[in-house]
Amino acid sequence: MALNTQQLAQYEQNGFLVIEDFVSAAACDGLRHRAEELVAKFEPEGVKSIFTTREQTRTSDDYFLGSGDQIRFFFEEDAFDAEGNLRQSKDRSINKIGHALHDLDAVFDSFSRTPELAQLIADLNVTEPLLLQSMYIFKQPRIGGEVTCHQDATFLYTEPLSVTGLWFALEDATTENGCLWALPGGHRLGLKSRFVRAQGGGTSFEVFDQTPWSLDGLVPLEVRKGTLIILNSLLPHMSRANRSARSRHAYTLHVMASASHYPPDNWLRRSPEMPLRGFV
Ligand code: FE2
Repeated sequence: MALNTQQLAQYEQNGFLVIEDFVSAAACDGLRHRAEELVAKFEPEGVKSIFTTREQTRTSDDYFLGSGDQIRFFFEEDAFDAEGNLRQSKDRSINKIGHALHDLDAVFDSFSRTPELAQLIADLNVTEPLLLQSMYIFKQPRIGGEVTCHQDATFLYTEPLSVTGLWFALEDATTENGCLWALPGGHRLGLKSRFVRAQGGGTSFEVFDQTPWSLDGLVPLEVRKGTLIILNSLLPHMSRANRSARSRHAYTLHVMASASHYPPDNWLRRSPEMPLRGFV
């Protein structure tokens, strides 16, 4: 077992679980180094795609919608000046890389497919897991954008719900540099919306509950480098903007049960040539 009875009970109760020192500092540094290499090789052309959670339907361009089986780069909203030029270097401007790093890059593949992670997912009773999506998140110094309160099941929906989020701190995450905030027990509140492909192109939100999230009960999850946070897909969570001088790099992986139905109107899609794979 990777998780003991007490940890499983905590996860059940809170909808998230913090595990310190799950990955080594060397593994964190290796992933960070590889992300730097990928960004160095990335040549932005034409219109640059930004990532913001505030106007998600407007900013869902083809580059974003086609990223389910690719390695693509999304800029911070505040990276550009009024003329559309970067205010700082390219490597300090990228918000995130997604969404198939774990299948297309050897370094990300080895970080994502370890016996420890496979055991942990088995302990959570996810049978025949499939690795659905991966993201490298930079939360850049000064301009790292806020991610508004959401449930991952809004974006990664299965029937029944079966997605588990794995959030790895590649650097210390604090309230200063934009750590995660979560609502303990909030995974029992029900799904508020789904982010789907709209008929005729683009995306839209299918809303089940209009009530905005109350942010009162959210607690900061300040964690040190090497920590893994497991997130139930219904857990409300967010991260504030990073106005500090330090970055807050994190890697996220989402896993689903292969027996669950993956609806075709989910925004994240793959070509038939690149089916989802498990931990082996
Ligand atoms: Fe999330």
